[in-house]
Amino acid sequence: MKIAVIGCGYVGLVTAACLAGFGHTVTGVEKDPAKVNALKEGSIPFYEEDLAPLVAGGLRKRKLLFLEKIDESIAGAEVIFIAVGTPSLRNGAADLQQVFKAAGEIAPYLKKYTVIVNKSTVPVGTAKRVWEAIKENLTREIPYDVVSNPEFLREGKAVNDFFQPDRVVVGTGSTRAQQVMKKVYARLIADGTPFIWTTPEAAELIKYAANAFLATKISFINEIANLCEAASVDIDTVARGMGLDKRIGGEFLRAGPGYGGSCFPKDTRALVHIARSYGQRVLIVETAVKINEQQKGRMVKKIRGATGGLKGKTIALLGMAFKPGVDDLRESPAVAIAERLLAAGARLQVHDPMALGRVKEVFGARINCCQDPYAAVTRADALVIATDWPEYRKLDLARVKKLMNTGDTPVLLDLRNIFTPQEVRGYGFRYQGVGRGWKGEPENGLEK
Ligand code: UGA
Repeated sequence: MKIAVIGCGYVGLVTAACLAGFGHTVTGVEKDPAKVNALKEGSIPFYEEDLAPLVAGGLRKRKLLFLEKIDESIAGAEVIFIAVGTPSLRNGAADLQQVFKAAGEIAPYLKKYTVIVNKSTVPVGTAKRVWEAIKENLTREIPYDVVSNPEFLREGKAVNDFFQPDRVVVGTGSTRAQQVMKKVYARLIADGTPFIWTTPEAAELIKYAANAFLATKISFINEIANLCEAASVDIDTVARGMGLDKRIGGEFLRAGPGYGGSCFPKDTRALVHIARSYGQRVLIVETAVKINEQQKGRMVKKIRGATGGLKGKTIALLGMAFKPGVDDLRESPAVAIAERLLAAGARLQVHDPMALGRVKEVFGARINCCQDPYAAVTRADALVIATDWPEYRKLDLARVKKLMNTGDTPVLLDLRNIFTPQEVRGYGFRYQGVGRGWKGEPENGLEK
């Protein structure tokens, strides 16, 4: 099939490359000329596992092309995906400007029946509004349908998630559009992937509801973690005890400094706004958002408490990306924590295996970026682990202890619970995790 993808940001580029991987001929349209030139050379502006070889393969086989403008070259496409950004407005609502702009620009080039697919995360009712935006800009009568097909890709695992999704959601009232979408996803249908064929509105809401549920699950476990600290209970044991119940499931029950990234914070806020626009409240999501904000403050308080005041202290901060495996700082709790530590007068020595370049862009000379974690801990008053990069799990804690500034009992604040308290204390550190209220040592028959 001939397919166009408008927007070659994170979602658009993954979609374009994976659709080309299915054997379709895909044109990716990206308005930033520098980005287009780089993409034509196979150079990707962010890190995403498995994406570079996929893009390179698509370019080589001429299944993947990149263009700067929506023009005649998209006219022959059977399907046009819109995958542009929908950032948060000040009031939390999703800003749909780019979506409608793309819809308006596509319209004059439609020559035959075309399916326009909304990949961007958009509020309920947007498919209809995109349909209208196209209608207004058509230069002649052309049949078309607008389909909602939200993405559920995890950053860092997006290529895998595209080829092996838990489900695909397609929202359209048109059987003609449905047939076209079946051709787009023929490979996944053949693989037995569950498909939900539904209305555009339901598809739009599924996306927000899924992200809000996962975000709520994280805020829930963070609240329970806070209770664990007060009640001398270990959160990991509680999460495991909960998660083994298949109805609950063990994933997204890792307590920490709160969720970040380009999706959960934005989409939870947008869902709150969508509900209000219907005269409803989603109180549980509103609370999840609030807890997430508070959690970052709690982490700063924890660090302040452990260091006996932040002013003039040197803090080693390991991990700045919003999660491991990505170089993305968007709404990263580590960034928010760093800002607050700086505001309180602390000096920061920071390391991240992938995101240091972006850290320099955001913080400039305000923090000291270190090329390895041992440089970051050198002469630090406290060590804070803010992102659960697997390499930090392998830190030589004896060496770390020697390098730190704090005499006999340095403090390690493990905001992602990557270590067990016992092992860290075994090296002579003071240890604080999140929700690790239980101070006991492991005994026979007891969980750590
Ligand atoms: C999320 C969803 O997981 C995807 O399904 C969805 O497609 C995507 O948003 C999107 O809407 O585009 P992503 O933002 O890549 O994916 O990140 P996640 O892996 O879900 O993690 C989000 C945040 O939650 C991270 O800061 C992570 O550290 C945190 N988290 C996750 C926890 O604090 N605890 C957990 O148990 C799990």
